[in-house]
Amino acid sequence: MSHIVAPSILSADFGNLSRDVQMINDSKAQWVHVDIMDGVFVPNLSFGFPVMKSIKKSSTKPLDVHLMIIDPDRYIDDFAAAGADVLTVHIEACTHLHRTVSAIHEAGMKAGVALNPHTPVSMLEGILNEIDLVCLMSVNPGFGGQKYIENTYKKIRDLVKMRVEYGADLKIEVDGGVSLSNYQKLLDAGADVLVAGNSVFSSTDPQSTIKQLLNL
Ligand code: DX5
Ligand code: ZN
Repeated sequence: MSHIVAPSILSADFGNLSRDVQMINDSKAQWVHVDIMDGVFVPNLSFGFPVMKSIKKSSTKPLDVHLMIIDPDRYIDDFAAAGADVLTVHIEACTHLHRTVSAIHEAGMKAGVALNPHTPVSMLEGILNEIDLVCLMSVNPGFGGQKYIENTYKKIRDLVKMRVEYGADLKIEVDGGVSLSNYQKLLDAGADVLVAGNSVFSSTDPQSTIKQLLNL
């Protein structure tokens, strides 16, 4: 199975948002990663529905929406209406994760679960067979352009083993500090989806960086 690259719109130029979405449309990237932050679960605010809807309007690619918010159940239907294709919630933010995942599916989206760097993949045992994606955070969530945390390789390898053991059908996504110097090692460990913000948008040639991340 070939892997997916999801440029993170958080690193785009918000004054030229439709231009940057168009760059992704014209590129070989398969998804667009959309980070939603509430200033409570993470120490930063990003953007909300009006911006997300305008991304949806100009994007030809599926929106991979990463919620860094507490109590995400309140907004599941709103994210479906705003055009999310994959909706990922944090395990650390959900008291009734099974209920949340069911609600995401009922709203017609793929369901993902994100883990902070300190959260072990064993926490996923009870939910592994219900979800479509696991997002392993390889930085502490809240900001783009941070340094990749090395322990993520081990988490990917452990999750690959668990996926086999449980017969689960899910993608393993890595989010944070993904660059041209570590992407191959992440793929070798078993990553299926590479989120890339800073490495794509700070590149002098974003399209070529995306191609390199895809090994094209
Ligand atoms: C961090 C976000 C990431 C971020 C990644 O909290 O979840 O998606 O945009 O950006 P880079 O690739 O710059 O680390
Ligand atoms: Zn993210």
